Amino acid sequence: MRTFLGILALGALAHSSPSGLGKSPRQLPPDFDPSTLPTYNGTGPTMLRFGCNQLSIDRIDPLVNPGAVPSPHQHQIVGGNAFSASMPLSDIASLSTCTTCSYSDDFSNYWTSNLYFRARNGSYKRVPQFPGRFQPFFGNNSFASSTNGGMLVYYVSPGQNKVTSFPPGFRMFFGDAALREEPSGGYNLSTQTCFRCYNAPDFGGDEFRPCLDPRVDTMHLPDGPCFGIRSNILFPTCWDGVRLDSGDHKAHVAYPVEGPHIFDGIGTAETCPPSHPVKIPQVMVEINWDTTGFNDPEEWPEDGSQPFVLSTGDGTGYSQHADYVFGWRGNSLEVAMEAGCAGADCPGMATQTMQPADACEVPELVGENYSGWLDTLPGDPPQPTPTGKGKGKGKGKGKGKR
Ligand SMILES: *[C@@H]1O[C@H](CO)[C@@H](O)[C@H](O)[C@H]1NC(C)=O
Ligand SMILES: *[C@@H]1O[C@H](CO)[C@@H](O)[C@H](O)[C@H]1NC(C)=O
Ligand SMILES: *[C@@H]1O[C@H](CO)[C@@H](O)[C@H](O)[C@H]1NC(C)=O
Ligand SMILES: *[C@@H]1O[C@H](CO)[C@@H](O)[C@H](O)[C@H]1NC(C)=O
Ligand SMILES: *[C@@H]1O[C@H](CO)[C@@H](O)[C@H](O)[C@H]1NC(C)=O
Repeated sequence: MRTFLGILALGALAHSSPSGLGKSPRQLPPDFDPSTLPTYNGTGPTMLRFGCNQLSIDRIDPLVNPGAVPSPHQHQIVGGNAFSASMPLSDIASLSTCTTCSYSDDFSNYWTSNLYFRARNGSYKRVPQFPGRFQPFFGNNSFASSTNGGMLVYYVSPGQNKVTSFPPGFRMFFGDAALREEPSGGYNLSTQTCFRCYNAPDFGGDEFRPCLDPRVDTMHLPDGPCFGIRSNILFPTCWDGVRLDSGDHKAHVAYPVEGPHIFDGIGTAETCPPSHPVKIPQVMVEINWDTTGFNDPEEWPEDGSQPFVLSTGDGTGYSQHADYVFGWRGNSLEVAMEAGCAGADCPGMATQTMQPADACEVPELVGENYSGWLDTLPGDPPQPTPTGKGKGKGKGKGKGKR
């Protein structure tokens, strides 16, 4: 409890010291005053935090490779069952009949790459996922802490009437599936994509907000063994107010002029740029990978490197990315963002139990075998680690996912 309140308190101060444009990400203050805790009592910020069961694992990507069966690399997907190889720019909620998320009006889809372990003999095995941490602060989040893998999803608004919900058909992309090193141009996105290396069993070291604790968070895959690895991926918080999508699925969204919004859970004194004036909820996804079965030093590379590989073929982790297709029913997200509540059981918001969520599935279209030890990583070969310079990726500048 104390730990989590500390997490929030840091956020309360962080927005008073923006570091502005440039390479450096916005930094945390060295100390904080616990008396500045936000209160999710209906008058302040909203921070939804809820679990979504796995919907499927498949090699399709309706955003970046619409219609392609298979797409270049494999994903793990949560959310509504309208998910398919291509999805229309329309109201996804009306096309879905079930969702794997505990907020049962959320038929959105969220998807990311998968994580694989590469043994010394060159065989691959998919790293299983495990559910989110139970946080007493958030009331009843037993769903979030009992999913079959899947994700935790967060939506943050700085207060009532402070953000505009997404329109039906809206979608966006964060990341760059072709990246293999830390980009040197544009914004420093180390606060927007990271891996947390749990340093003890039972979420050890999880004491601080995502992507902001240099003791356990890195933008690349952790160098050494962990008691599980957590992925956090944050989407941009400004929108041009017009386009539902854009060519690279990024140019219609942008970061505040002060730089990417760190996950402070309460939002923001930040200003959206004139080109993208509409402040949208901050969406973050969180995935726990159970790496504990893969910590045998005898199976790690002899050269001292780490053995995990994203399904993009990337052994660095810089290609971590996430896709989002908005699909909340009617104005339910708008109502939620106004509510000033926290967690997974906000008053007035429809929820479901695990049973219907677990029964919600979509058939796998590619039907690849990704269980057990595999001779090759599922995905289009070859997937070499490029040797060229990584491209800078300021807003709207990234390459498409490949
Ligand atoms: C809600 O929290 C805010 C900020 O902490 C506080 O100013 C306000 O008095 C609280 N309102 C109620 C009804 O508790
Ligand atoms: C490769 O190594 C793993 C881990 O030791 C083992 O389980 C697997 O059977 C091996 N695969 C082959 C093809 O030998
Ligand atoms: C980005 O910021 C992090 C945290 O301050 C720092 O460790 C890293 O070196 C920075 N990267 C670049 C390319 O400036
Ligand atoms: C907590 O939520 C779950 C559904 O996710 C429900 O089955 C359970 O009864 C709830 N527990 C309490 C104490 O409300
Ligand atoms: C998938 O591949 C693994 C490893 O080769 C094998 O053990 C397993 O039986 C296969 N599963 C199916 C359904 O083919």
